[in-house]
Amino acid sequence: MSSKNLDFGTFAQDVMLGLSASPKSLPSKYFYNAKGDKLFQKIMAMPEYYLTKKEFEIFETQYELILDPILNLDQPFNLVELGAGDGLKTKILLKYLKSRNADFEYFPIDFSGSVLQELEESLKDEFPDLSVTCLEDTYRGSLVKRLWDNGKPNLILFLGSNLGNFSQEEAFDILDHLRIGAAHGDFVLIGIDLKKDPQTILDAYHDPEGITRDFNLNLLDRINQELDGDIDLNTFKHWPCYDPISGECRSYLVSLKKQKINLKALDQSFDFEAFESVFTEISKKYSLKEIEQFAEKGGFESVQNFTDSENYFADVLWRRK
Ligand code: AVJ
Repeated sequence: MSSKNLDFGTFAQDVMLGLSASPKSLPSKYFYNAKGDKLFQKIMAMPEYYLTKKEFEIFETQYELILDPILNLDQPFNLVELGAGDGLKTKILLKYLKSRNADFEYFPIDFSGSVLQELEESLKDEFPDLSVTCLEDTYRGSLVKRLWDNGKPNLILFLGSNLGNFSQEEAFDILDHLRIGAAHGDFVLIGIDLKKDPQTILDAYHDPEGITRDFNLNLLDRINQELDGDIDLNTFKHWPCYDPISGECRSYLVSLKKQKINLKALDQSFDFEAFESVFTEISKKYSLKEIEQFAEKGGFESVQNFTDSENYFADVLWRRK
């Protein structure tokens, strides 16, 4: 498929590329440093941010049905998780697997080393007998390397609407990596935020306390910290908007004035026109029908869809053909 949008190099390279482009953009994966991880945990606890709560509900009420297919293989397996984060939802699955004496290894993967380290410590505490191998990598990087590959079948988790961070075209590319990275018969469980009342969606990305604003602005703060920048965060406005047709909730940082920002570490400066914007994040919402088409196009067969009581969120279980 498209060779575009692969994982680029370093933070510095990606910032250079993104701020030189027109329109300007910055990759959302750089939200997640120690400060951004903390802010995202605050976001997940906000009443407006229904995504985590709904997926939690699905796991709490349907963990048996979710895990039956892999357990019914009656074989040792790998539980692989792309973008594991704090692992809060996955721990529901781990508890059940433990109670069933399942023979499995857990491979949490995350781009943020800080959140991965916290996860590793909490797992040692709560699941001392569990075999855990943490991998600090991107989705594509890990799917190409497949360091978990030991010949056992896999259940690959891709939760939290993380797939929503990609445009349709990029999502196909990620699914292509998933298909190539999975063996025949492997299971994939993908958490998808569903299309719903646009106001409900917008509110989740525009909280009155400004936690999401701070999360978005953390990209600029990180540029200041790591690239010796002089960006005045007060001159940028957090601006999310939702398009109910594409299902894309896009977030921007809008420069409130004409200005030049300097990145001393790179010996570079970038000009902003008044109200010129940086595109920072896409959080795409899907209908279940669109997701079914994804499965078909991507070489997977749909096993079962799990939804919450309000149909806000879905975890779809697929099997690699
Ligand atoms: C972690 C990517 C699923 O897109 O909803 C939360 C990140 N951004 N609020 C999302 C996020 C703003 C979140 N994901």
